[in-house]
Amino acid sequence: MASPVTSITQIGRHDGETVTLRGWLYNLRESGKLLFPIFRDGSGVIQGVVAKNAVAPEVFETVKHLTLESSVIVTGKVRADKRAPGGYEMDVESVEVVQKVPTEDPFPISLKEHGVDFLMEHRHLWVRTPRQAAILRIRAEIENAAREFFNERDFVLTDPPILTPAACEGTSTLFEVDYFNDPAFLTQSGQLYIEATAMALGKVYSFGPTFRAEKSKTRRHLTEFWMVEPEVAFLELDGLMELAEQFITHIVKRVLERRRADLVTIERDVATLEKIEAPFPRISYDEAVKMLQEGHAKGELEQKFEYGGDLGSPDETYLSNKFDRPVMVHRYPAKVKAFYMEPDPQDPSKALCVDVLAPEGYGEIIGGSQRIGSYEKLAQRIKEHELPEEAFKWYLDLRKYGGVPHAGFGMGIERAVAWICGLEHVRETIPFARTLTRIYP
Ligand code: 4AD
Ligand code: MG
Repeated sequence: MASPVTSITQIGRHDGETVTLRGWLYNLRESGKLLFPIFRDGSGVIQGVVAKNAVAPEVFETVKHLTLESSVIVTGKVRADKRAPGGYEMDVESVEVVQKVPTEDPFPISLKEHGVDFLMEHRHLWVRTPRQAAILRIRAEIENAAREFFNERDFVLTDPPILTPAACEGTSTLFEVDYFNDPAFLTQSGQLYIEATAMALGKVYSFGPTFRAEKSKTRRHLTEFWMVEPEVAFLELDGLMELAEQFITHIVKRVLERRRADLVTIERDVATLEKIEAPFPRISYDEAVKMLQEGHAKGELEQKFEYGGDLGSPDETYLSNKFDRPVMVHRYPAKVKAFYMEPDPQDPSKALCVDVLAPEGYGEIIGGSQRIGSYEKLAQRIKEHELPEEAFKWYLDLRKYGGVPHAGFGMGIERAVAWICGLEHVRETIPFARTLTRIYP
């Protein structure tokens, strides 16, 4: 009778039994009459043991000459071993080679160090390494947790269009496409559209790819990234900040619960994530500027911050390093923010907006605001920002037909993954990163 096919994560259920695994050869060590192949199957890795005197000669020879990343179907007996990383080893009985990587053209990514350009050029293969696979599993968990958070709270998922006639987040980072001889643009954010669905459904969210022709080559910017955006009718800035802190707390909690082994694989300091609990500190832009200017005076921050400007990456890094949980910076000067933000009635030069800066120097992961409620004010803003009025006619309608206070935010998935995984650069947070200098593979 054929032995049951299982996966490496499930193998503990079969201690002492003979099972079959399907996967790839990740590594191979030899020690006299013993071979120690390490197999991976997508769910995890396990070490096999092949003893020359315990298997048929052709099994020993096959494994001995197996090349890295060859695909295999392996059958063997599961044995608990406290020293093994997953707690189990497999005494290999037979091996079927599905496809052997040619010896003369080996898998290009070896277990030694490679440069980043080389790895990005081979991203289609790099994703197989345990560290990259763990990051992708954590990303999936974050995406699931985001959906779960909104679904559990009765938000309705509404999918905005990708092809749009106009800008949402400023005209400087639009990707233009030819739409049957007329210009159209890849969406920068689903926000304007989900403001419309929020007026239909009350609480909505969108989750999809967004595009920005970012000319900046930083560790935080991609040209294509995934954004999750809630939008809520009758919500104001304070409620929005509460929503954001509950949302982030939920995601971190889920990753800690369900992806702890992956966090260990990537050597993430789990203790810092365990401190992430609501409420998060809230500081106004004015308070942030004070901290930045004091930091400069103390020599902790190189550049002197000029009041009135937007926070740059070094400023965000400085601020977020001051807190052990995300910090919410609210009420930026309206002129450095998007056209649709509601001015603060206490000081109309400020916008009722919030950026959430992740700790450990990660900076902005969420941007959001209360939206302008008045038709006249919005029409005026569209003019001031020199936006094409015809393209925003429908958006103005939302203030004409039963306009209400409403608010929402957007979280970039890659920024959240980079922070939660403790990564240097967002390029490792997505299966295939798109940046200023890379669109291959
Ligand atoms: O702050 P942003 O530009 O806000 C918006 O797009 C709003 N319309 C969202 C809303 O209120 N519904 O972008 C939101 C988030 C940022 O905080 C950041 O996490 C991410 O999107 N983001 C990027 N991530 C990777 N690469 C880029 N080039 C990004 N630009 C923004
Ligand atoms: Mg922003």
